[in-house]
Amino acid sequence: MFNALFKELGLNAHYSRLAAETAKEALDLFLKLNVQGMNVTAPFKQDMALLMDELDEPSQKIGGVNTVVRKGKKLVGYNTDYLGVSGALISGGIDIKNKHCVVLGCGGAGRAAVYALIKQGAIVTVVNRTFSKGKELASQMGCQTVQFDDLEKILGKTELLISTLSNGIDPVKEEWIHPWLIVFDANYKHSPLVEKALKKGCSVITGEEWLLQQAYPAYEYFTGEILHEKEKKIMKDALHSAQWIYPGNVSLIGFMGSGKTTVGKIIGEKLGMGFIDTDDLIEKKEIKTIRDIFEKMGEDYFREVESAVLKDELSNNKNIIYGCGGGIVIKEKNRLLLQSKSLPVWLYASLETSLTRAEPATRPLLDGNSQERISKAGKLFNERLDYYWNASELIISSESEAEVTAEKINAEIRRAFNY
Ligand code: S3P
Repeated sequence: MFNALFKELGLNAHYSRLAAETAKEALDLFLKLNVQGMNVTAPFKQDMALLMDELDEPSQKIGGVNTVVRKGKKLVGYNTDYLGVSGALISGGIDIKNKHCVVLGCGGAGRAAVYALIKQGAIVTVVNRTFSKGKELASQMGCQTVQFDDLEKILGKTELLISTLSNGIDPVKEEWIHPWLIVFDANYKHSPLVEKALKKGCSVITGEEWLLQQAYPAYEYFTGEILHEKEKKIMKDALHSAQWIYPGNVSLIGFMGSGKTTVGKIIGEKLGMGFIDTDDLIEKKEIKTIRDIFEKMGEDYFREVESAVLKDELSNNKNIIYGCGGGIVIKEKNRLLLQSKSLPVWLYASLETSLTRAEPATRPLLDGNSQERISKAGKLFNERLDYYWNASELIISSESEAEVTAEKINAEIRRAFNY
């Protein structure tokens, strides 16, 4: 959604995905990489709110942020999830003022849904498996709650049901759904609840609509620009045509010493995929070492061969993990190729860590005494941050052991593509 609109408007901006173990780790990377804005998803919305310098009123009340914006030296947290709920209802032409609504679940999404419904004047009941949590939310927000066992009974007099339960948890039986119930499910991948509701002839609002409607205001917070219908349509079309399909190859990009080769070999073994280092291919093709190519033919020549090798490989292979030379991302044509023919994963390690790992033998760009090495590396590191950012679809810190980094990448690949 975001990248489609950035592209259409010719903005030099890129939206990527960052996987982290904690909200703090995500925020540290966000700050180091000099990013302007970030969306936050479960389970970090509450923790992220605690790390902000300022919170807008809805995110304070909801107790979580899904949008973080850097404003000068301050980090400001917003919640656009509730705007996603109201936006989806408005776009579906649904007026819920004085209507009975049930919100199932009281995690971050549930809290946002309750807030949105109350703001629109609905009569809200929250239902949660752990009753005490539902009760706590109800008293904070000023709505009602009932025991989980009473869900069937309450649905009988409900006009709108919003389910915010995790994917795979679906307690609502088909016979509890009456045809005049409007069913809204936060899940945007596969929703058995929506399927049942459609069978019963109910009006439904999909999680995809919620995703879209929360993204519009997030875009506005990130850029400070108001979206018009034409731009919203670009985001909408991009979401609807998005393919959740694994692109076949994985390319590891990142600075020299970020761990691409070591991590790549481990992922290859875990996923049963081959591993290829682009530098090895270049050396074989030229029958010279990387150092010789740089010394005898120069960097421009090396970059030409690097691009040719990448194009040849990615066009002809599937199921390969590529460890890419640190400078491969400099050329735009390479970045586009990496994005279209592979999942580009940026391994980020700090300059200090990268330098301790990068053996000098294959890194002629860092030649010199230790002072020169540090200053050359520092310059390249900063010059390249934007290139890595713009090429990446997934960012992982590779500060930890290679095994840990590899496992994080595997988990992300599986999660994103059900691989
Ligand atoms: C380079 C990185 C090296 C190698 C060459 C140039 C770079 O690969 O391709 O020395 O420009 O960053 P690694 O990133 O695998 O060290």
